[in-house]
Amino acid sequence: MRNVGIVGIGSYVPENVVTNLDLEQFVDTKDEWIVSRTGIKQRHIAPKDMPVSELCYQAGLRALEDARIAPEDVDLIIVATITPDYAFPATACLVADRLGAKKAAAFDLEAGCTGFIYAVATGSQFIASGTYKTVLVIGGETLSKILNWKDRSTCVLFGDGGGAAVLQQVEEGFGFLSFELGSDGSGGSLLSQPAGGSKCPASSETVEKNLHTLQMEGKEVFKFAVRIMGDVSLKVLEKAGLIKEDIDLLIPHQANIRIVDAAVKRLKISPDKVVINLDKYGNMSAASIPVALDEAFQAGLISEGDIIVMVGFGTGLTWGACVLKWTKVGIKND
Ligand code: UT7
Repeated sequence: MRNVGIVGIGSYVPENVVTNLDLEQFVDTKDEWIVSRTGIKQRHIAPKDMPVSELCYQAGLRALEDARIAPEDVDLIIVATITPDYAFPATACLVADRLGAKKAAAFDLEAGCTGFIYAVATGSQFIASGTYKTVLVIGGETLSKILNWKDRSTCVLFGDGGGAAVLQQVEEGFGFLSFELGSDGSGGSLLSQPAGGSKCPASSETVEKNLHTLQMEGKEVFKFAVRIMGDVSLKVLEKAGLIKEDIDLLIPHQANIRIVDAAVKRLKISPDKVVINLDKYGNMSAASIPVALDEAFQAGLISEGDIIVMVGFGTGLTWGACVLKWTKVGIKND
């Protein structure tokens, strides 16, 4: 099996910023509540005419430029999203077309906020097995489009964005050292968009009842998240033959600062090893981890050989983590 790593990264968020004070104007909420309960201060929201494929395209383009790889050389594009442009065709096909990735296979993958971890794990297999050389993995969301902006228990939490990574073969000992993925469908109703699928097709009644919007039992998801983040991080480290002291950088899913703090406490790692950007973006679901990874790299927080743990949880319920020994040097094996 070939070793697989990230040889290019990029991200994109829409320009428009909505602060907590902005939200106070039309929802019964307070900046103080949002900051103290979640850590979120603002979020970026896509304009009405900007679909998720645009965010994914922009992020993907930046990642390919960073890797100095032409779109025509991409073998596969995977888009992780729960807010696709359409139920079908897949957003990944639309992104491939925009990029001019003419030979790329393309499909979407749905694992909620764990989507990016699931997508890199999936994309890596194609390279590890020798099937493909270059895979573009994108996590993108426009959650603003499926929120009920009158429901203060959900609408203050989320934001829009996209993050992307180019996967290629890397030197032995580098790249992804382990993955840990899981699911528990018995918790599916805790975080869902109930209408619009085959179980509850769209109708004027479903629209009237707001069933096309995101519904969440926040407290239950919170409890699950606190438990799973620490557990799965320890498991994925063990799989890689490492211990928590080996972590140079932890990139957790950015849902709530209290969830991240609980995981950090459990892992007993120094808070300065933890990447946090939820204050600026809110929860961008599948985009949260790749945007944080890109920002950490741009800020000079990542060096060759660093051990990075990325860990997430989300609808499904799903969870996932990976250990990455950082290098951006791909092996050209034409
Ligand atoms: O990526 C995965 C997706 N989601 C998550 O990870 C979210 C996980 N859950 C959470 O982060 C937290 O459960 C929330 C942030 C959603 C809620 O925090 P909480 O500390 O669990 O608050 P709560 O739901 O118990 O609500 C406490 C109070 C309630 O009022 P009462 O009943 O005590 O009078 C709520 O009505 O806060 C009220 N409340 C609000 N007040 C002001 C709920 N939302 C708001 C709000 N502004 N936006």
